[in-house]
Amino acid sequence: MTAVRAEHLYKVFGKKPGEVIRKLEAGADRSELTDLGTAAVIDVNFEVEEGEIFVVMGLSGSGKSTLIRMINGLWKATAGSVEVMGKNIAELDGKSLRDLRAKHVSMVFQHFALLPHRSVRENAAYALEIQGTPKAERLAKADEWLAKVGLDGWGDQLPGQLSGGMQQRVGLARALAAETDILLMDEAFSALDPLIRTEMQDQLIELQHDLKKT
Ligand SMILES: Nc1ncnc2c1ncn2[C@@H]1O[C@H](COP(=O)(O)OP(=O)(O)OP(=O)(O)O)[C@@H](O)[C@H]1O
Ligand SMILES: [Mg+2]
Repeated sequence: MTAVRAEHLYKVFGKKPGEVIRKLEAGADRSELTDLGTAAVIDVNFEVEEGEIFVVMGLSGSGKSTLIRMINGLWKATAGSVEVMGKNIAELDGKSLRDLRAKHVSMVFQHFALLPHRSVRENAAYALEIQGTPKAERLAKADEWLAKVGLDGWGDQLPGQLSGGMQQRVGLARALAAETDILLMDEAFSALDPLIRTEMQDQLIELQHDLKKT
């Protein structure tokens, strides 16, 4: 099955998004249209199969984060469509979109986005808390995933007591604990120093042998 499909996907910020898209389609360059709006994503088309690792590369400001936010439905596309597990996300109401996210899509952020006053264990359990998993069960699951990402025994600490690499492992444990089949990572390791980054990439590939995530 196709896990994610983007078709003729656009995101334009600014006053006249429709006009920007018409002019882009007529062959204008985004740099000529800055008075009308910022074209962040222009006619993106791709398909990602289940279990596939799909990488989007581009310069700073080229629209990667905007694209990823449209895939998880945080932002609405200006034009075009995104399908996640066969469902056009623009056609879902609020509840169906939340359900789809809870079941299928989790996200790891560039700057960790942990809750500073909650313990590492509670942070790792956070997605499960949102899903309504009972407390004892979600904390046990959080511990399991913390161990898998190499943070056995750190559950009682606060995020601020951990190094950057360790905090990102908490972010990863939180995303993995949700047990969704799609994992979105927006430069999740770019804030880490190169040695730690390589180590974490290798570990994720290792975990992927069992997880088989998209
Ligand atoms: N909320 C917003 N309002 C207006 N313009 C925005 C908004 N968010 C992003 N943009 C613009 O959209 C374009 C793409 O930004 P985006 O953050 O998606 O790039 P990126 O590829 O993720 O960059 P980086 O590698 O630096 O993270 C940029 O020109 C940016 O200024
Ligand atoms: Mg970005």
